[in-house]
This record gives sequence, C-alpha cells and structure tokens, in this order.
Amino acid sequence: MKGIVLAGGSGTRLRPLTGTLSKQILPVYDKPMIYYPLSVLMLAGIRDIQLIAAKDHLEMFRSLLGDGSRLGISLDYAEQDEPRGIAEAFLIGEEHIGDGPVTLILGDNVFHGPGFSTLLATAMDRLDGCELFGYPVQDPQRYGVAEIDASGRLVSLAEKPRRPRSNLAVTGLYMYDSDVVEIARGLTPSARGELEITDINNAYLAQGRARLNELGRGFAWLDMGTHDSLLQAGQYVQLLEQRQGERIACVEEIALRMGFITPDQAYALGAELGSSSYGQYVMDMARRAPALASPAA
Ligand code: DAU
Repeated sequence: MKGIVLAGGSGTRLRPLTGTLSKQILPVYDKPMIYYPLSVLMLAGIRDIQLIAAKDHLEMFRSLLGDGSRLGISLDYAEQDEPRGIAEAFLIGEEHIGDGPVTLILGDNVFHGPGFSTLLATAMDRLDGCELFGYPVQDPQRYGVAEIDASGRLVSLAEKPRRPRSNLAVTGLYMYDSDVVEIARGLTPSARGELEITDINNAYLAQGRARLNELGRGFAWLDMGTHDSLLQAGQYVQLLEQRQGERIACVEEIALRMGFITPDQAYALGAELGSSSYGQYVMDMARRAPALASPAA
C-alpha cells in the first residue's frame, strides 16, 4: 500500500499566517500540522509516502522531513502548481502509486481516537474498491456528505450539498484499489473548477465498491481551515497531552512502535531535538522501548 499526503493549496483562509508558510507546516500545539496526517499513514503501516505541495513550499517540507529514512520510511515529494482539486493527487502521484492500492490523506486533517490502528488495518484488509471514513458533524454542508441505510450500507455521496441527507461528513482519509488512477483520468472539473474527490468516490459507489467506516463517539476528527479551528485543534492536543502525559502524532514514537526504527535510533532523534519537552518525551519513550509492545491507538 502506497501513501499520499496532499498538502497543497494556498491557505487563503488562514492569511496572514500563511503569507510565507504552508498551512500544513503551521504549529498545532507542539508539532507541525503535517505530523498528524503523516502519523496516520505510518500507523496504517504505510512506509512509502509521497507528499504533494505547492512549489514554493516543497523545500520547507524537505528540510523538515528529508527523505523519511530517519523515521524508517521513504518520502518523496511532488508539486501541485495550482489547487485543481483533491483528486488531482492521483494524476500527480500516478508513478508513485504504480499498479497497487493507495491511501490518500489531506494534510490538514487530525484523527485521534481509540482503536484507530485496528480500524485502519481492518479497512486495509478488506479493501475492494474504496474505503471511506465518516464522522458526524453539526455542519455537514461544509463537507462531502455520506448517506447510509439502516444496515450501515453506503447509499449516496454528495459534495457540500445545500440540503445534506445526513450529518455524516466524509473525512479526508481515503483508501483505494489500483483503479483510482484510471478513474481520476476520466474526471472533468466540477462547477467550482476542481477535480472532486467525491466524483471518484461516486464512481466506486456506482460499481457497488465503496464502503463507509464510521468514526463514532469518543473519536476526534478535526480539520483546520480557519483560525478558530486551528486554535481549537491545538487546544485539543494540549489538553489530552497534558492530561495523559502521552503525545498525539509523535512520528518518532509511532516509527518506533511500528518497528520502523530501533530504540537507539529513536533516542538519537529525541536527543537532536535538544531540551524541548518534545525531545525529552522522545528520549524517555525510547528508553522505555522494550515495554512498548503494540502500535499506538
Ligand atoms: O476535510 C474533508 C473534506 O475535504 C471532505 O469532506 C470533502 O469532500 C473534500 O472536498 C474536502 O473539502 P474541503 O472544502 O475541506 O477541501 P479544501 O479545498 O479545503 O482542501 C482540503 C485540503 O486539501 C486543504 O488542506 C488543501 C488541500 N488541497 C485542496 C485542493 C482543492 C490541495 O492540496 N490541493 C487541492 O487542489
């Protein structure tokens, strides 16, 4: 399974924060936003990842994350010169995807909740077409919206409908089989001029090969398109981390738990972060490594 993190766009709604910076590099409490989606792919066991961003921002991501080898993953970079739609990721990433399945995650999405790694593993195991992830929200008209029947089967999908048929938003995490590139090639831009991810999902739905995994109560899905939602995400992470003493989306910890790197390598990464509390956490966690048997949820 290959992975793509889509971190393009110009972040206009977050100006002036995004005057010179990519939105997906902005801080969400103690770490850059990109760590959150990256950690989801790593939790799913995906190690071959492409990061797609605007040309002006690619260098920033490269200097932050390099080729990924320090985390035991392989990262390469590709450019999206204009935000022509989320589905363009499969055209840009065609070579990276090759002829296997791919998981796409949006660079501004945070997922956190119990049993998440198990849910990801289950979805990946049964992938036949596409696996989507739904989350109840109060303002579904801002999102892709999924309708399910009484048995939980997906029956319709609509992008930002004026009259949503449910309160289930389709989150920015998508798993596809190898047909996705071909389906993306056949898309035409929507009324707002974008290659819509919902059109891809609808193509799978029409073939009876789209499934929705519901992320229920007790789960957090946050996207960060506005100043308020950015701050709220940071406060959410701060609250949980301070209360529990465990970090959310600490990529060094996940790399260690997943067996991508050794405790010594994790310790060295923590030491490089010096006296920051994040660096201390990584070093402590590496010292306790033998006790860290299972992947973080
Ligand atoms: O967050 C989930 C929602 O994401 C889904 O429910 C919707 O179906 C989907 O269309 C999308 O809606 P948004 O309105 O949130 O999409 P937005 O244009 O804000 O883009 C989401 C992220 O993807 C954002 O961080 C920028 C990035 N992006 C977006 C586009 C259109 C790109 O990197 N390139 C693009 O061309």
